[in-house]
Amino acid sequence: MGGIFGFVCRRPQSCEIVGEGLKRLTYRGYDGAGFCLLDEQGKLVVRKVAGHLEKGWERLSFHSYSSDVALGHTRYASRGVPADFNSHPLLDCRGRVAVVMDGFVSGYEELREELRRRGHRFVSTTDTEVLAHVLEELLERQDLKGALLEAARIVDGIYSAAVALEGTRGLALISKGQPLAIGFKQDCHYVSSDLVSLSGFADEAIVLEEGAGAIVTPGSVEVFNLLTGAPLGELVRKRVKYQVESIGKGGYPHYMLKEIYEIPEAITRTAASLMEKYLRLSAMIISSARNVIVIGNGTSLHAGLIAQYYFAELAGLNVNVVSAAEFPYYALKNVFTGTVILAISQSGETSDVIRSVKLAKQRGAVIVGVTNVLGSRLTMHSNVYLPISGGPEIAVPATKTFASTLTALSLLAAFTGLYTGRTSESKLHGLYGEITAASQLLKEELPRQEERVSRIAEELAGEERMYVSSSGISYPLALEGALKLKEAALVHAEGIQLGEMRHGPLAVAGKMPILIIEPVEEQATELYERVLGEIRGRGGRAITVGYRRESHIVIPRLSEVMVPIVAAVPLQLLAYKIGALKGLPIDTPPGLAKAVTT
Ligand code: AGP
Repeated sequence: MGGIFGFVCRRPQSCEIVGEGLKRLTYRGYDGAGFCLLDEQGKLVVRKVAGHLEKGWERLSFHSYSSDVALGHTRYASRGVPADFNSHPLLDCRGRVAVVMDGFVSGYEELREELRRRGHRFVSTTDTEVLAHVLEELLERQDLKGALLEAARIVDGIYSAAVALEGTRGLALISKGQPLAIGFKQDCHYVSSDLVSLSGFADEAIVLEEGAGAIVTPGSVEVFNLLTGAPLGELVRKRVKYQVESIGKGGYPHYMLKEIYEIPEAITRTAASLMEKYLRLSAMIISSARNVIVIGNGTSLHAGLIAQYYFAELAGLNVNVVSAAEFPYYALKNVFTGTVILAISQSGETSDVIRSVKLAKQRGAVIVGVTNVLGSRLTMHSNVYLPISGGPEIAVPATKTFASTLTALSLLAAFTGLYTGRTSESKLHGLYGEITAASQLLKEELPRQEERVSRIAEELAGEERMYVSSSGISYPLALEGALKLKEAALVHAEGIQLGEMRHGPLAVAGKMPILIIEPVEEQATELYERVLGEIRGRGGRAITVGYRRESHIVIPRLSEVMVPIVAAVPLQLLAYKIGALKGLPIDTPPGLAKAVTT
């Protein structure tokens, strides 16, 4: 899987365009990068490297090449190790067919064996390469369109692929469940895995539907049904109007730290830019739902768990929260006409979320999406969506988008409360004030917190395991803190409820530090003190994040709704600082991608 970016133009263009497009797609994978182009004689020239695009930038040398047809890829290694030979594009035996793919091929081992028996030589261990060899055979007896239709039938799976061919001034595309867009500009057509990356290159774009194929030449774009070959006619063109932001580290050593410092601004922007009419519409839908299921993965799932408290507190509603990875297996059964799915995804591209949303829609559910990325698949599949406006988040460990998502969800819960009668207009107004105040407070506190957390990080940098524990609305925060420690500091951390510490985990309390977030709910004070005493009594080491002056990390006491937004910051900083002390690739942890798109 990974990200695809290419162009077909009337006149030669610098291949740096492909490099720039791929930079915007590295959130989809960074285990390899490569591109191919057609030289003046129509021959394919291929360059590729293992590892992150940024690291391979010099070797790839995009700027040294120009062509009217170029096609690139940034890879997430799901089949085959990260290695030069596994990076895309992948070629057929004679180097005349170049394929890049996002997604996976089912049953590729058998197909590969079959092709091998027929004399094909494989140089990679990826599943993508089978498509190049299948096309090689088909193109001997059919034209490009015929071969594409047949190849899409033979090569099964959930993927999108783009193909460049020797001697053909164009690109061929297959869309079988993974996104692929075609961008239009006067003299060029662009191909990309998302709409956002087309900003500044194309003015308008179409998104290929699942089951569509296309042949893109400088003067034409032919889109057809992959089963029948019948033309799909004029697809609705969307304006590509996303802001091209200057994405740099702005003097910070890592994106993660920069993005933590952007939290104060991100949350006020979220509150200011969420349009009231969409909040009201979503709230109306939720308040009249038969049942509400919140879905998401990772950090978005944790935001969903916090939203469960928001809806209970601000709207008097019980909502169910389910991992989007689990949803199809048991929660789908309880989806009917009248069910509302509140789908949360920063990227809007996470495959578990998209799959769950599609399945729920088939059963009559209404989808309310919450995402940071306009034009993402989640926005397309939602009946109504709320953009969180966190701004681009580059580091794989999500930080500012967690804060923005929580801000949006708190407002959504409060608007829902207007319809259920739990929240008044003045309480809602007060929430906007709380968001502004929290933003201001964070801005002032952040440098002090960073300094304090740095000292604690030095004490913890040698630890390989940790517990993160809390209760009430801060319990999902403990899960989130543990997730950040895994991603940024490569520490095996486990989030656990305070009360559950006493039901087993205390047996190993002396073996690892326990980070305890003081619960904000007054009724949990006794529990907090009791568990803390028991840990210390067993020789355990507790590091406290709380409201008391004696806490190791002091956090301001705000309303229950604001606490998860503000208290997440020292946890994020701690994971960041430990990762930095260990010299880890914090922004791009091994084996991960910003969005898990297959
Ligand atoms: C967060 O730090 C992680 N990188 C990861 O858990 C992420 O939150 C998850 O993959 C969901 O992503 P999404 O919000 O883009 O759907």
